[in-house]
Amino acid sequence: MSDVQTTTHATEPYRLYLNEDQIPKRWYNLRADMPEKPDPIRLPNGAVATHADLAPVFADKLVDQELDDETPYFDIPAGVLEMYKVYRPSPLCRAYNLERALGTPAKIFYKFEGNNTSGSHKLNSALAQAYYAHEQGLSTITTETGAGQWGTALAEAAAHYHLDLDVFMVRCSYEQKPFRRNIMETFGANVTPSPSDSTEVGRRMLAEHPEDASGSLGTAISEAVERALHVPENRGRYQLGSVLNQVVLHQSIIGLESYEALRELGEYPDIVIGCAGGGSNLGGLIAPFMRDKLTGVHPDTRFIAVEPASCPSLTRGRYAYDFADTGQTCPLCKMYTLGNGFIPSPDHAGGLRYHGMSPIVSKLHHDGYLDAEAVLQTDVFAAAERFAKLETILPAPESAHAILVAMREAEKCRETGEAKTILFGLTGTGYFDMVAYDKFNRGEMEDHVPSDEELERGFATIPAVPGIQEAGGLA
Ligand SMILES: Cc1ncc(COP(=O)(O)O)c(C=O)c1O
Repeated sequence: MSDVQTTTHATEPYRLYLNEDQIPKRWYNLRADMPEKPDPIRLPNGAVATHADLAPVFADKLVDQELDDETPYFDIPAGVLEMYKVYRPSPLCRAYNLERALGTPAKIFYKFEGNNTSGSHKLNSALAQAYYAHEQGLSTITTETGAGQWGTALAEAAAHYHLDLDVFMVRCSYEQKPFRRNIMETFGANVTPSPSDSTEVGRRMLAEHPEDASGSLGTAISEAVERALHVPENRGRYQLGSVLNQVVLHQSIIGLESYEALRELGEYPDIVIGCAGGGSNLGGLIAPFMRDKLTGVHPDTRFIAVEPASCPSLTRGRYAYDFADTGQTCPLCKMYTLGNGFIPSPDHAGGLRYHGMSPIVSKLHHDGYLDAEAVLQTDVFAAAERFAKLETILPAPESAHAILVAMREAEKCRETGEAKTILFGLTGTGYFDMVAYDKFNRGEMEDHVPSDEELERGFATIPAVPGIQEAGGLA
């Protein structure tokens, strides 16, 4: 725990920017230091997925990264590093105004990833994934997007590396955020609302759930995978913005820069907090700090994943093998899941509306290294607006989940008098979320917490896997 601050207000900067040459040259693979590895990806018949199984869907180099639990560091290719320099290093900010308003002795730091056109951390992995597709000589990439940040990031990356991009955008976000679609189209992407009638999976979802066409990330993923597999001459691949090990690897740049910036300040966090949709920003932010915990260097650091109460995979889900997508076309990941058929309510943190969770984050939670909390969206928006007024950044609703819990932890410090150091990830900006902010300001926002019955309906879609688990994922 840190000393109570007296002079630090005068000596620590509001924003610390590392130099360009301090951008990490390697991504860090947290799996290498995990005492127990995440369970392997499997095919529906229970067999462990191999490179040959995954290569038709993902670019080759990304499959290598996906399956590698041992190599601690991967060199960032020069072509990616060059693009990182366009918007990195991102600043590590000290939330002095928030600290003062809360009257807390805690020091609150946040890593701000919204300083690029995508408005979020998603560009860190989009550039890497598009680069590898380009390097492999592919013509087309496909993807899903929820809130729109990932689609925007990949549209930027695809434009840079001269790839065609098809984006399936969760329909409720497509309707709530027309400008997001416009940006993607400006960068040259084709954007289709999901569920759509342009894929077999989409048509099936529309026929089976005509009452609920608001969509989900799970359905959009199925559509994007199907589209990738139909690109002529095997020159299409699918790219996913979260969940996968490779994405957590790329996002380690967030944690590595935070680690270095805090080291320059002579600080170390007592608590690290991130919002969790598919787990990529959280996994990346915590990576080097979790390494220190796992290797006994800093065993007492606390980690908190924050998720919406409307889509509570870590706090109420089952730890089981499940499809990454609603159409059940992807391989199976062992993760906390609400069931691939769970359709979350159309809450405003679109990027957190996903039934599953990164296998790395899931394993850390399962093994007791990472706590999880679920919060209500009305509380999230209240925290977002308070933060915006104090710190001037209008946060993405997803990011505001982390803000809320950081504020709560800082308030606890006020009660106990402990001067803890808190680090949270401010993953992006909320300028395209004004429909949501407007609803909140008018008092029209509601909270939806799924009943146990609703969750059971989702769990019922977790598949039986021969020799591994029964249907429902309990045994
Ligand atoms: C701003 C922002 N933060 C967080 C997330 C959640 O994703 P992940 O859990 O992969 O970091 C998203 C996803 O779209 C996002 O757009």
